[in-house]
Amino acid sequence: MTVSSAESRNGNYPGKGIGEPVGVAILGKGTVGTEVLRLLAEFSDNLEHRIGGPIEVRGVAVSNLDKHKDAPEVAGIYLTDNARELIDRDDVDVVVELIGGIDYPRELVLEALKNGKSVVTANKALVAAHADELSDAANAAGVDLYYEAAVAAAIPVVGMLRRSLAGDQVQRISGIVNGTTNFILDAMATSGMSYEDALAEATRLGYAEADPTADVEGHDAASKAAILASMGFHTRVTYDDVYCEGITKITAEDIAAAKQSNETIKLLAICERLLDDAGNTVGVNARVHPTLVANDHPLASVDKSYNAIFVEAEAAGRLMFYGNGAGGAPTASAVLGDLVGAARNKVHGGRAPAENPYANYEVVGFGEVHSRYHINMTVNDRVGVLADLSRMFAEAGISLSAVRQEESDDGAHLIVVTHSAQESKLSEIVDALTSHADVQAINSVIRLDA
Ligand code: HSE
Repeated sequence: MTVSSAESRNGNYPGKGIGEPVGVAILGKGTVGTEVLRLLAEFSDNLEHRIGGPIEVRGVAVSNLDKHKDAPEVAGIYLTDNARELIDRDDVDVVVELIGGIDYPRELVLEALKNGKSVVTANKALVAAHADELSDAANAAGVDLYYEAAVAAAIPVVGMLRRSLAGDQVQRISGIVNGTTNFILDAMATSGMSYEDALAEATRLGYAEADPTADVEGHDAASKAAILASMGFHTRVTYDDVYCEGITKITAEDIAAAKQSNETIKLLAICERLLDDAGNTVGVNARVHPTLVANDHPLASVDKSYNAIFVEAEAAGRLMFYGNGAGGAPTASAVLGDLVGAARNKVHGGRAPAENPYANYEVVGFGEVHSRYHINMTVNDRVGVLADLSRMFAEAGISLSAVRQEESDDGAHLIVVTHSAQESKLSEIVDALTSHADVQAINSVIRLDA
């Protein structure tokens, strides 16, 4: 390939020229880093054609040299424990950050961007916390910042929002974006097992990490929700803006009750545009919580550890994206897709479409959002209790769509399903029910997807 760099210049972001190598620094060599290196070697000829020049790995930064020095993927590749020295090299054009955590990778990514390197990261926590600072640094330096792998790994949802739906108006995104919790909820639904047993099974099979907190408490999904909402609504939404409730309180009884009403419990990340009566956007919201999904909704049938993202856009209508949302190879696939994009721009010139938070909508708190509730409580089985509780809902202005009562030894199980009402009102009524003399226990409160 012998085309001069002058022929491949592109506006203010000139390219190196077709045939020129693209130097890459890889930070981190865990499961994903190892797969990225393996695939880079395996696909190198194809990647060169797609990019217009060869990828040359300048080095791999790891924290423990001894642990990695004999690994086959780094044979002949410079291995260092000095990530700064690697990213500062003049012959590095693109930095791939696969370290994890927030503070240390934030420093490295900012330094790389400021030094004119494009960055590819799979780090959802970093992007969800600091997308503004990172995007500003990328824009100032005229380089690319890519993070497809940060949300649902191989499922191309960030690129879809960034490019494919760039001309449309996204109304709502609801997704199963955490495979560990989907595996646990699906195991509970298919076998009737308890949450604790399903978590143990997920751990045994390697889906859940030794400390599963980030997954089961919804933190991982909340980072992804922040990224999806930011991309979908052109507004900066951070991790701290996302209401987050995990699956640790879901019981086998909740799962059985959902089955009875032809519903499935899923941990959903919901990103929503809130409209006034005239259809104008008044704000956006992002939240993560266990959600009852009707069995005929496409998200209900997403089983095992699969992820799926359901997008509603004004012109495109309803779209669904399904696949592997975690794992070394699927995540590496997304990283390599980004790397090809960043490398191609280094060769030919130009930049990828950057995050564009021009709309700057108000990020509305969870209390303002409207939801439907499914409240399961044990009440004293005496005359007038049902009427009394119904009156409480009526006085709060909350309409009921269904009430079901089941006898039990310790009282009556009452299942109340509400129509859509403001979250703050619904949580007030749950508080009032909790202190009502005839309510023995609120067994569960689960939202329904509208
Ligand atoms: N632990 C996540 C999951 C994958 O279970 O989906 C990484 O975000």
